[in-house]
Amino acid sequence: MDSYLHLGEPVDQDKYVVCKYRVTTDLPMEKAAEAIAAEQSTGTWTGISTLNTEIFNSLGARVVDISGDQIIVEFPAEDFSIEVGAVPQILSVIAGNLFGLGALKGVRLEDVTFPKEILDQFKGPKFGADGIRKALDRPEKPLVGTIVKPKIGLDAKNTAKYVYEAGSGGLTNSKDDETLVDQKFCPIEDRTIAVAEALDRLESEGHKMMHAINVSTRGDKIVELAEKVQEWGAREIMVDVITCGFGAVQAIAEDPSIKVPIHVHRTMHGAFTKDPLHGVAMLPLTKLVRMCGGDALHIGTLGVGKMSGSTKEDSNLTACLGSDVPYRTVMPVCSGGVYPGIVEDIVKKSGFNVQIQAGGGVAGHPGGVRAGAMAMSQAVDAVYAGIPKEEYAKDHKELATALEMWGSK
Ligand code: 3PG
Repeated sequence: MDSYLHLGEPVDQDKYVVCKYRVTTDLPMEKAAEAIAAEQSTGTWTGISTLNTEIFNSLGARVVDISGDQIIVEFPAEDFSIEVGAVPQILSVIAGNLFGLGALKGVRLEDVTFPKEILDQFKGPKFGADGIRKALDRPEKPLVGTIVKPKIGLDAKNTAKYVYEAGSGGLTNSKDDETLVDQKFCPIEDRTIAVAEALDRLESEGHKMMHAINVSTRGDKIVELAEKVQEWGAREIMVDVITCGFGAVQAIAEDPSIKVPIHVHRTMHGAFTKDPLHGVAMLPLTKLVRMCGGDALHIGTLGVGKMSGSTKEDSNLTACLGSDVPYRTVMPVCSGGVYPGIVEDIVKKSGFNVQIQAGGGVAGHPGGVRAGAMAMSQAVDAVYAGIPKEEYAKDHKELATALEMWGSK
């Protein structure tokens, strides 16, 4: 049988799923790369009598490049399920057994591109960034939101009160946090109805706002729950994509009865995105969320704030907003440790097509939720108008208080 090494041959993005891995190993890199290509396609730890040349040539993965610790492996499109858009099987190929290979100290999937025939199996976002903007009547300015805090504890009435105060302070978005779904202290039906009333009240006062209700639950119930919250008045649905699975986002997005956008939270991603030498980078996950139909996705805060990551997060912006795939764009959500003083820095990196949101950075304002929301809105207005925040704060006291309390960086 031939080798899995095809070094120097052109990368063929039309016929292959192309993966970039970072590999840490004591083996010669060619051997490590071959072990990955073999394990993830037609081979195993030993030669096998059942593998013939035809199978090897048509389905074997190909290592086409090795540069330092980075390798490029191509998987023939035929290695993937003909079922429509099956992420579990895709992940088992590109991000499966290889992580456990004993000969590798570490391996990280950094990026992936898919050929058209696989991209075409997916539908992408039903609303996307533009659809969310349209629903909010906010064509250009960054969206500005909050996460209801404390993340658990408020009852339905107080959640709705929080949302109303946030909207009155100018926020366009709010959402449940990732750990709130349907607890006794805040049943999802009561919360959804109360929040819908708050949003209606805001709208009658001339302000449009969305709140994402978290429906993250077991696989066989999630679409039903999404349909129910929509009936109860939800204007947006939230799904924790890693804990629920990509198929959950896809099932909701592709359900014709769902007529509201899906806000995708990535809680737990740090378990495999944080180690630079092992796991899966956020970029492949972002691409899969877009394919599966997420309309908005948390991408971190571009190197600023409590969840700060590397500038590599910029590639997630491109994966949300780029035009290299046949889908609507995804609204990138910068969230995690955000407060008014860092909004300018984030927007300078993200551009205006972004949703910036703060939980503690709103609810922690000494003037309360409305003042906190005003401070966040003012910070966004300032950067949108090209006015330095310190200057803008001179006649916007809520922003001035926030800058004084949390600083500017
Ligand atoms: C999130 O969902 O991004 C976090 O709960 C953000 O909360 P924080 O703004 O208080 O860090």
